Amino acid sequence: MNISIIGTGYVGLVTGVCLAKKGHKVICVDKIQSVVDSINNGITPIYEKNLNEFLIDVLGDKLEATTDIKYAVENSEISIIAVGTPFTEGKIDLEYVKEAAYDIGMVLKEKKDYHVVCVKSTVIPTTTDTIVLNILEVASGKKLGEFGLVMNPEFLREGNAVEDFMNPDRIIIGTIDDTSFDVFSKIYKDYFSAPIIRTNTRTAEMIKYATNALLATLISFSNEIAAVSEEIGDIDAVEFLEGVHMDRRLSVNIDGKLIKPDIVKYLKPGRGFGGSCFPKDVKSIISFSESLGYVPRILKSVIEVNDFQTERLLNLLKEKIGELNSKSITVLGLSFKPGTDDIRESQSIKLIKSLQEKGALIKCYDPVAIENAKKELKDYSNIEYFDIYKDALVNADAAVIMTDWDVISSIGYDEFKKLMNNPVVIDGCRIFDKKEAQSNDINYVGIGCR
Ligand SMILES: NC(=O)c1ccc[n+]([C@@H]2O[C@H](COP(=O)([O-])OP(=O)(O)OC[C@H]3O[C@@H](n4cnc5c(N)ncnc54)[C@H](O)[C@@H]3O)[C@@H](O)[C@H]2O)c1
Repeated sequence: MNISIIGTGYVGLVTGVCLAKKGHKVICVDKIQSVVDSINNGITPIYEKNLNEFLIDVLGDKLEATTDIKYAVENSEISIIAVGTPFTEGKIDLEYVKEAAYDIGMVLKEKKDYHVVCVKSTVIPTTTDTIVLNILEVASGKKLGEFGLVMNPEFLREGNAVEDFMNPDRIIIGTIDDTSFDVFSKIYKDYFSAPIIRTNTRTAEMIKYATNALLATLISFSNEIAAVSEEIGDIDAVEFLEGVHMDRRLSVNIDGKLIKPDIVKYLKPGRGFGGSCFPKDVKSIISFSESLGYVPRILKSVIEVNDFQTERLLNLLKEKIGELNSKSITVLGLSFKPGTDDIRESQSIKLIKSLQEKGALIKCYDPVAIENAKKELKDYSNIEYFDIYKDALVNADAAVIMTDWDVISSIGYDEFKKLMNNPVVIDGCRIFDKKEAQSNDINYVGIGCR
């Protein structure tokens, strides 16, 4: 099929490249000329495993990029909106979605052929069947039926985005009418093996929020129960949560082999969640719910617990090295998770800002996210950036592990001891074994094992 993708960030570009790889013909649209130029030159503007190789494979023949939305919509049968939906001023900001819908609608005014518009951006339930539909109808002067509309949430995980998109666990298509579904589902039918679930647009929107809210809740639950165990003392939260993972309702025992589903990874204490989705999606659904008159108490606590994680890391640091003023602290990992250069809402960036306010001298390391971090932290002083972790550890008074990159989890105990002033390691990801680290003379502490 001929598909245009409006907004080519983490979701749009992965969607476009992967759909082209599956055999569709894709036109990627972005407002930013440098993003478009980069794609057309075969260089992905973001880092995501295998994305650049796939882009080079499909570029020219199956994929092109442009800033010209008119050209893209006229030359495609389906337009997928994948623009950002940030959380600003206490609620979801739908300006980019509205603008994209309006621009598409204006092209549909003149377009004779049937065209389906898809909302892939994460939007608050009711957005597609009220705001987007209304904008499309007003801008195009047509009624639903003369064009199609679907809501198709995206579940890819950054760091694993290409693999997730190519092998989805579910394909949710929310529609109001049959024709939209019949045309849009052709994108996936025969190309992907995942079940296609048809529902209404509000349910599709809610599936995305409920998924992210559940995962964020598990993380905050783990951090809360870990905090309780820290107060009790002599209990390691990683250890007791592993006992919880073995509950037959979480893991299954097949022929004596324990099969753990991925969800148990979220039942682990650590520095808390970040990224472009969990924080903003949980906050957006809270504020929308409140505007309807219901206060979602659990979700509010999920955010509160998460916000407190930086404080907990600072307390662990102070317990180990005293006042932080003029201390040299190495922050290992800047991206909000491994496999991506995305630092949006990264707990690491929050920690660096707090450390800087406390007068610490910060050295930070990340294999791919340094450039993004430099931009975000441009107004902060006393920060040095290293692309070799060993250089970042030299003469440090403490190291804080913030992203569980393989390269960080492979750092040897001897390296901490040889390079640092004191081998104080604060493990925000719980990637090292506490007993092993301590028996190797590392002054080790992590979230959940104080
Ligand atoms: N990042 C993820 O892991 C992820 C996963 C699932 C869903 N989502 C959702 O997908 C949406 C996009 O997220 P993202 O992380 O890819 O965002 P992003 O900020 O990385 O990319 C958005 C892109 O859209 C472009 N854009 C904005 N308005 C435009 C317009 N009118 N016309 C053309 N281009 C326009 C921007 O220039 C930018 O390049 C969000 O709603 C997000 O919540 C994200």
